[in-house]
Amino acid sequence: MNIIIADDYEKMSRIAADIIAEKVRNQPKCVLGLATGSTPIGTYENLVADCKAGKVDFSDVTTFNLDEYVGLQPENDQSYRYFMNTNLFDHVNIDKARTHVPDGSNPDAAAVCEPYDEAIASAGGIELQLLGLGHNGHIGFNEPADEFPVGTHIVDLTETTIQANSRLFDNADQVPRQAYTMGIGTIMGAREVLVVVSGEDKAETVALAFSGPVRPQVPASVLQLHPNCTIVLDKAAASAL
Ligand code: GLP
Repeated sequence: MNIIIADDYEKMSRIAADIIAEKVRNQPKCVLGLATGSTPIGTYENLVADCKAGKVDFSDVTTFNLDEYVGLQPENDQSYRYFMNTNLFDHVNIDKARTHVPDGSNPDAAAVCEPYDEAIASAGGIELQLLGLGHNGHIGFNEPADEFPVGTHIVDLTETTIQANSRLFDNADQVPRQAYTMGIGTIMGAREVLVVVSGEDKAETVALAFSGPVRPQVPASVLQLHPNCTIVLDKAAASAL
């Protein structure tokens, strides 16, 4: 694991965007795994600015997002498809047909999950997977559990996650109770992983995940076993390491 400690959120975001932009410049047809949440927003802002400045070209890039709430239509402004469109895809020269987010509007998990992993495999696998970190150590929506889930699957969200994500909804009752998420196997299959974490409220989780034992109760800890994983923290998120 390569841990980079940036002074603040802005610098963390710039470093992460540089890693992604460099990957796209070197491999214009690469497959990116993308994440939602507040943390990567600054990374996407930098990528949008880079694209508008002609420094990076997304026209041949394919993307697969980590996760999506079950029960939300893509045009729902709380859906992760909507998030990706408004924070990145609508502002860069990517072909939307090459962007993939699990179909949360389809309640049939069997019709969504296995085909999602198959689509990733037939695109050649993920070259670079961007991740945020949940307060309970989740990555994607892989919640603390007794084992690491392998492929894309449906999950019941934990109360901690529902509460954490309720800040983006009118109230906790509106947060969907289930989500589709890539599994830990899907994420670990990416050839490179890039994690962004910001803020003191994540400091304990960062310490547990990246300097504690590898265990499914702290899903992000598995990244210690990834052969090419970079973690970009701001100083606050690194404060308990
Ligand atoms: C959500 C997403 C995760 C994300 C996490 C942290 O639950 N499913 O992919 O990493 O929250 O989000 P934030 O960056 O807003 O703290």
